[in-house]
Amino acid sequence: MRRHDHGSSASPASEAKTGNAARVDAETDGSERAGAETGGRGEREETAVRLRGVGKSYGKGHTAVEALRGVDLTIGTGELVVLLGPSGSGKTTLLNLIGGIEPASAGTVEVAGRSLAGLDEDARTAYRRDAVGFVFQFFNLVPTLTAMENVRLVAELVDGERGGRRAGRGRRRERAREALESVGLAGRADHFPAQLSGGEQQRVAIARAIAKDPELLLCDEPTGALDLETGLGVLRVLQDLNRRGRTVLVVTHNAAIAAIAHRVVRMRSGEVVDVATRAVPADAGEVAW
Ligand SMILES: Nc1ncnc2c1ncn2[C@@H]1O[C@H](COP(=O)(O)OP(=O)(O)O)[C@@H](O)[C@H]1O
Ligand SMILES: [Mg+2]
Repeated sequence: MRRHDHGSSASPASEAKTGNAARVDAETDGSERAGAETGGRGEREETAVRLRGVGKSYGKGHTAVEALRGVDLTIGTGELVVLLGPSGSGKTTLLNLIGGIEPASAGTVEVAGRSLAGLDEDARTAYRRDAVGFVFQFFNLVPTLTAMENVRLVAELVDGERGGRRAGRGRRRERAREALESVGLAGRADHFPAQLSGGEQQRVAIARAIAKDPELLLCDEPTGALDLETGLGVLRVLQDLNRRGRTVLVVTHNAAIAAIAHRVVRMRSGEVVDVATRAVPADAGEVAW
């Protein structure tokens, strides 16, 4: 059903040995989602993200910090993966490497089959801008722009830079409206951030991230600043986007969030210490913490 690895020398056995038997997991529980979305083989890469032997250190000499060590991780297209670990375990660093915000110090980071190390500065900028949607703990909305304007701002920036694929103004507005609709906020389009609850602001931030139709949605502690009820609303939106085919990586220190994942990756001190698969992820509506 699904295509196999692209130029990888890793056999299933060596995959399993790394402790990240993600390839196997993706084959068993990922096929239905990806298949349904692509309508068959070959329309998009089956592996969204592949990290091999990834290290990241900051500083030099005896003050050097090894934020990541020997990380192997594979995320299948269409998966919802939760990366769980205590503060300081390297979660944000890992997200930043996948998002092309920082380069790895060692190993390889591939997204949809392309190596990020192989990109020059312009290509890396284009990758960050076009291929990845970021959602952060603090929503970072522009306070003087409405929800709709916040979403359109990014859509316009991306479009302006994409050149040949530039959409008309009407189409951009439509796309922004669709994005707000998909997070349940069509009715709040003309509200300013200060007129929205924290959960609503985060949903606007998610709409902003998806308005450019990224391959990957990277979320760093997306519920970290929210209370239970609004946090659950945000998880529901992320799960819904995933069920409609988007690959989502959620970084959190909150173990309760792991319930909604297809796979849970646990980190400690810069290393992946466990990868677990859930045959049937819980509905975000059922999560409690
Ligand atoms: N820019 C940086 N310079 C130096 N050390 C850093 C930098 N970013 C992160 N670190 C260190 O790397 C480790 C992992 O950090 P981080 O990825 O932010 O962890 P987490 O997101 O899991 O809390 C921590 O020890 C942190 O202090
Ligand atoms: Mg962090």
